[in-house]
Amino acid sequence: MPKSLVRRILEGKPLRQPLHTMLVHFPIGLFVVSLVMDVASYFGAGDYALFRGSLYTLCAGVAMGLIAAVPGFVDWTDIRRDNPAKGIGQWHMGLNLLVLLVYGISIIARFSMTDPRRVGLPLIFTSLAAIGLLSVSGYLGGMMVYDDGIGVGRHRRRAPAPSRTIALPSTSAEEGWVPIPGAEHMEDGQTLRLDVGGVIIGLARVGTAYYAFQDFCTHRHGPLSEGCFMGDQVMCPWHGSRFDLRTGHVTHGPAKKDINIYEVRNLNGEVSVRIPEAKVPTTARRDSARSGTEEREWKVEPEDITSPTTEQAPRAE
Ligand code: FES
Repeated sequence: MPKSLVRRILEGKPLRQPLHTMLVHFPIGLFVVSLVMDVASYFGAGDYALFRGSLYTLCAGVAMGLIAAVPGFVDWTDIRRDNPAKGIGQWHMGLNLLVLLVYGISIIARFSMTDPRRVGLPLIFTSLAAIGLLSVSGYLGGMMVYDDGIGVGRHRRRAPAPSRTIALPSTSAEEGWVPIPGAEHMEDGQTLRLDVGGVIIGLARVGTAYYAFQDFCTHRHGPLSEGCFMGDQVMCPWHGSRFDLRTGHVTHGPAKKDINIYEVRNLNGEVSVRIPEAKVPTTARRDSARSGTEEREWKVEPEDITSPTTEQAPRAE
């Protein structure tokens, strides 16, 4: 279902930046400035201007915090339920609301002071505690972005074929079956990346089985051929999305869209991939379309094969 214009604006799509992360700087800055004025007022000679300045800064901070919460909430609703960031986001949101509540109580206390010139130690410690909570919340927000890829932009990534992608010129193929000479020598856990008439495909050998799949992850275009293979599943090396290599289905977020998969056959040691979308020659030639160098019979060579990492254990089941 297409997203509404309001939702797209709240997600920061027109600016190509998440709106929430742009707005949160305002309340954080205002709360820190308020604390500095409180401390100055406490150690000063009882300055009415400092007291009022801190109070108004706090009010502005709470207002900006509430405004920043709206796009943050919209971003949170877009996270899949099975993504660890969903739970982290709840804590992040809960802590932020708690901070706003603490500052709200602090504002009420200040309005009811009989001598509004100097802030007492209890209010200063309250502000310190709130900033401590805000720091924990910011840490959780960072986890969501850096660990789980929430709000990571992909508009600048053009997903070019890496230099070791094996490119095949697009002409014609018999019923879409593309032979991959030499692929029979791949070992368990090794992968290839193919460009078959413009379709970028990862080929992996897992045990005795071969899997062919759309190489770029549907989340943020992470290269799945460099991912971690676990049985019939591949885990994206960037943010941990997992896909079933037999069906292409997402089995774990943050990705939401399935990947394309392709049929592979191994006839008497000749491995072929069926790519219905592309038209490739039965006698494929390697890299000739791109390099302009002399064409030669195409064959997988040892440097074409990569052994993907297996160190990245999944963060959550
Ligand atoms: S690019 Fe983010 S999970 Fe694959």
